[in-house]
Amino acid sequence: MPSEQVKALIRQGREFLKSNDFGIEEMSDQQLRLPQPPLVKDKMTDKQISLPLNFDELPIDQNFLNVINKRVSHRVYTEKKITLLELSYLLWTTQGVKSIRGNNYATLRTVPCGGARHEFETYFIAKHIEGLEVGAYHYLPMTHEIEFIKSIDEIDETISKSLEEQKWATKASVIFYWSVIPYRSEWRYSYFAHRIILVDIGHVCQNMYIASESIGLGTCAIGAFDRIICDTLFSLDGEEEFTILVSPVGSVSIENDALEKDFYAFLKTQDE
Ligand SMILES: Cc1cc2nc3c(=O)[nH]c(=O)nc-3n(C[C@H](O)[C@H](O)[C@H](O)COP(=O)(O)O)c2cc1C
Repeated sequence: MPSEQVKALIRQGREFLKSNDFGIEEMSDQQLRLPQPPLVKDKMTDKQISLPLNFDELPIDQNFLNVINKRVSHRVYTEKKITLLELSYLLWTTQGVKSIRGNNYATLRTVPCGGARHEFETYFIAKHIEGLEVGAYHYLPMTHEIEFIKSIDEIDETISKSLEEQKWATKASVIFYWSVIPYRSEWRYSYFAHRIILVDIGHVCQNMYIASESIGLGTCAIGAFDRIICDTLFSLDGEEEFTILVSPVGSVSIENDALEKDFYAFLKTQDE
C-alpha cells in the first residue's frame, strides 16, 4: 500500500492530468498582451557548425508502414560512427524549423506542438560522429547549425551518471538531451501548459524513434535520468530551463536485435 504522502502525490498527479478542466477564468500572459518570450534560445558560443541538408544522399527506408512496424526501443549499439548528415537528419526530423508564422509569432517545425510554442531546446553529447570532436553541443534550429559547447572528460562515466547508471547508453553514437523552457508554453497556456508540454515532448521523441529506424539507427527514450547532472552538463538553471527527456541513438545490427529480444537477459550482462 502506498503511504499517505505517496497517495497525495498520486492524487496531485491525476489533478495535473485534468488541468485543462479547472474552469479558472484567468487570462494568460498572452491574453494580457505581455511580451512574448523568444522563439529559440540564443547561441551560447561563437563556435557554430552548419549542417548538410541534402537528405537525398541518405538510404532512407521509404516504406512508411515498414518503418512503423519495425520500430522498437534499441539499447544495444554497434559503436559504428554516424555521419554528420545522419546527425543533421535526426535534428531536422525532431526539431527542424520549416517556416516562421506571423511577425516572429511562432516557428512551424517537423513536429506538432500545442500553440506552436516549441518550448524545447536540443543538446547532445557527440561520441561517435564523423568530423565532430567528442563533447557537448547545442542545436540552433533557426539556422540548422550546431554549436560546440565544451569537451567532456571521462565521457562514459559522465553519460552513465547522467542516466542513472544506464550504462548501455554509453555505447550510443550520440545522446540527445531535450530541455524545456516552460515559459514559452506558460505564456500562452498558463497553468495547463505543463500537461501540453508532456504531450509535446512525446511527439519529438516519437519522431526520433521513426527517423532513427528509417536510416538503420536505433534509439530508446530515457525518462530515468538524473536531472541535476543533465542540467549541469549543459549549464541549464534548473528553473527557467531544465532537462525533460533523453534519447541515445546508435547504429544497430541484426545480431543486436537478437540480443535485445530478451531485454532482461541483456540487463544482466550490461555490467560485464
Ligand atoms: C517516456 C519514456 C521513458 C522511457 N524511459 C526509459 C528508461 O529510462 N530506460 C529504458 O531502458 N527504457 C525506457 N523507455 C523505453 C520503454 O521501456 C519502451 O518504450 C517500452 O518497454 C516498450 O518497448 P518498445 O519501445 O520496444 O515498443 C522509456 C519510454 C518512454 C516513452
